[in-house]
Amino acid sequence: MYLTPEEEKLMNGHGGPTYQKAIEILAALGDIYGADRLIPIKSTQIAGVSYKTIGDAGLEWISDLKGKVVVPSILNPAGMDMECWEEMGINRDFAQKQQEIIKAYEALGVRTECSCTPYNIYDDLADFGDHVAWSESSAISYANSFIGARTNREGGPSALSAALVGKTPNYGFHLDENRHPVILIEVEPQLSDSDYGALGYIAGEMIGDKVPIFDLNSSPTKDELKSLGAAMAASGSVALYHVRGITPEAGKYELPGEKITIQEKQIKEVYKSGEPDLIAFGCPHSSSDELEKLAQLLEGKKVKKEVWICTSRAIKNRHPGLIRRIEKSGAKVFCDTCMVVSPASEKFKCMMVNSGKALKYAPNLCGVKSILASSEDCIKAACR
Ligand code: F3S
Repeated sequence: MYLTPEEEKLMNGHGGPTYQKAIEILAALGDIYGADRLIPIKSTQIAGVSYKTIGDAGLEWISDLKGKVVVPSILNPAGMDMECWEEMGINRDFAQKQQEIIKAYEALGVRTECSCTPYNIYDDLADFGDHVAWSESSAISYANSFIGARTNREGGPSALSAALVGKTPNYGFHLDENRHPVILIEVEPQLSDSDYGALGYIAGEMIGDKVPIFDLNSSPTKDELKSLGAAMAASGSVALYHVRGITPEAGKYELPGEKITIQEKQIKEVYKSGEPDLIAFGCPHSSSDELEKLAQLLEGKKVKKEVWICTSRAIKNRHPGLIRRIEKSGAKVFCDTCMVVSPASEKFKCMMVNSGKALKYAPNLCGVKSILASSEDCIKAACR
């Protein structure tokens, strides 16, 4: 991969060991994937934040870095609510390590909001056509598909390296030729709410990492598309999808010849019954609209089971009245973290979710059985 004279200087250690390591990582990736050069990026979103997933080795790696990021950069969810960690049942040792990780990122100039929906917090991260380096799979999917920005599936180290250098290798989804759909997915039933998570769950398993274009029979909200993309990224590894008549690049391409059809009974089969001891919302992190919907569903009710609603701290802080309405029911609103990346959910036996992504990940990453239900049915189960 071609490096400019300034990039060569970083490679030769003129900027110090942190920038040298960063550009070595980017150059190695560029060489592996056949990139011609590095291209400037507008922002990064950095995974590798929860102490549960990165452990002491990750903390040591980040703490050893000395430098500053040069583009707006934001973190993925951590392993706990940074304020209410005791309420989550997190122990003091874990909390201390988690705080050290956040401080280490802060010293590098990274914004320390921990969220997988950074696009709901800041306006300066990604617009149509922008190149970015994001690393949480649902955020990647949303950036590529709904916003029309361009990102590969970055790992934590490559996103952090991109943040320090302000560039990423030019390959994969940064290039027009890799963004066209290769499979048409016709969806027969009308969908709403958690059905989009169910659809993503099925579609991801069927198509792996292919780029699909959907022909839907209903009009999803942007939160429902967020849920569709998150589930597809989890059950397959879809990083970009198009929806006819909705997503910004859908009209740009010819329809592909390969086609599958999803029927109502396939969506219904994703829903299973069970008795949950945790009902968890907010995968990906709840938006203001989703919080409002939950507040309405919880109005005048008292939950009898543990109910978590995960969102970003910025969204929680924007809506104190809404949060009070939710908490009056006994449901808990947690920020900075989620039911999957926090060890706090591991003490439960069965998690009921309205998210196809959490449905897929909770058993593997938390050792908890998971069942999918609509938001309405989740609240009914919480109050039984
Ligand atoms: Fe976000 Fe956690 Fe789900 S990071 S997409 S809420 S698994």
